[in-house]
Amino acid sequence: MENVMAIIMAAGKGTRMKSKNSKLVQKIYGKEMVKRSVENARKAGIENIVTVVGYKKEQVMDVLGDTVEYAIQEEMLGTGHAVMQATKFLEGKKGKVVVLNGDVPILRPETIVRLVDKSIDNKEAATLLTAIYDDPFGYGRIIRDEGGNIEGIVEEKDATEEQKEIAEINAGIYCFDIEVLLEALKEIKPNNSQGEYYLTDVIQIIGDKGLKTGAVIVEDNTEILGVNDRMQLQMVTKILQHRINTELMKNGVTIEDINSTYIYDDVKIGMDTVIHPNTIIKSNVEIGEDCEIGPNAYIREGSRLANRVKIGSFVEIKKAIIGEGTKVPHLSYMGDCEIGAGTNIGCGSITCNYDGFKKSKTIIGDDCFIGSNVNFIAPVTIGRNVLVGAGSTITDDVPADSLAIARQKQLNKEGWNKSK
Ligand code: UD1
Ligand code: CA
Repeated sequence: MENVMAIIMAAGKGTRMKSKNSKLVQKIYGKEMVKRSVENARKAGIENIVTVVGYKKEQVMDVLGDTVEYAIQEEMLGTGHAVMQATKFLEGKKGKVVVLNGDVPILRPETIVRLVDKSIDNKEAATLLTAIYDDPFGYGRIIRDEGGNIEGIVEEKDATEEQKEIAEINAGIYCFDIEVLLEALKEIKPNNSQGEYYLTDVIQIIGDKGLKTGAVIVEDNTEILGVNDRMQLQMVTKILQHRINTELMKNGVTIEDINSTYIYDDVKIGMDTVIHPNTIIKSNVEIGEDCEIGPNAYIREGSRLANRVKIGSFVEIKKAIIGEGTKVPHLSYMGDCEIGAGTNIGCGSITCNYDGFKKSKTIIGDDCFIGSNVNFIAPVTIGRNVLVGAGSTITDDVPADSLAIARQKQLNKEGWNKSK
């Protein structure tokens, strides 16, 4: 999107989260909420993003690094005041600015695009995202005239009993003409029950100038949920879980239990793969077609599974590249490894990938049969078509087509226990 920039408000304290940290760095599926907000704007095609930081700003800046520009809000005097801190990035610019609440993390990028498109197409100086809520308590209410035109927004704390009945709420997501917003910000005053500079006041100010304002009513109300406490954090996680799992099912993946399966947003899974309950699949994982995963499997970062791979119960894998048709059926840890095609890893086998200082790799060839309870002391390489005896601790490389047994020979002392 050309000539569109974004401001993300992320300076608030988030008292209700009861945390030592900024609420904006609380994670949802492993990713900080403020990072999600920035990525949503980015995916909508907005490159130039300014983040307003204040409370625990180092934490927020640590997460976002140099992917955005920063405006500092020293004192938290309200959302209008937050945007005022970013005006130096707007001055002299033309076009649109999208303002987002940093605590609304699962907004769809498509919704941002819809908001901007409507604002441009209808030549609106200010366009807001609104929703119709059964229980609008706590949100700003949208005041419209008889013709349906937006007159302003009134906060819960300032609303009359009659205004509190209004079901249309302000999502806290806006698209403004940059020049119009700059002028309107100069006019907002903290004359309300909270003594704050409300960003929402600019809507009425812009309307009073005779400029056009409008709204986009969001279709999916869950998108604009704000996260203020840990209950809402969990609620948003569950909504995201539902969204991700539903999308995978639509694309031909079987998920037996949508509620106990946690698959991170960027995971790719092929058609006809079955995911059994209590499975967690983390970021940066690709799984092929016709695989079977779980129950109780933990697939960690950097793993790549070819087609027809089976990962069974109580198996953890990390940075594991696994070839077609290979099975790791029970109670294993396979980390930092490459396993070929058609190999079977026996129950309880593990890679010993960490020596306390560094991680090392285990490489296992095609068509191997690894007996139960084998330890691979990495770095170690096993050739193709190798049979490893159960209970072996493999410290040395094994050439192709061999049998490797690395365990003490059994000793039977006959009658020994009778004499005790
Ligand atoms: C705001 C809106 C309300 C809307 C709701 C939607 C105002 C006055 N009200 O209320 O109409 O229904 O969002 O979620 O805007 N922040 C700062 N600096 C500040 C104050 C806030 O950066 O001085 C940031 C917060 O970190 C947060 C966002 O702005 O990310 C929203 O602030 P919050 O106090 O949660 O606003 P609400 O009361 O929820
Ligand atoms: Ca809020």
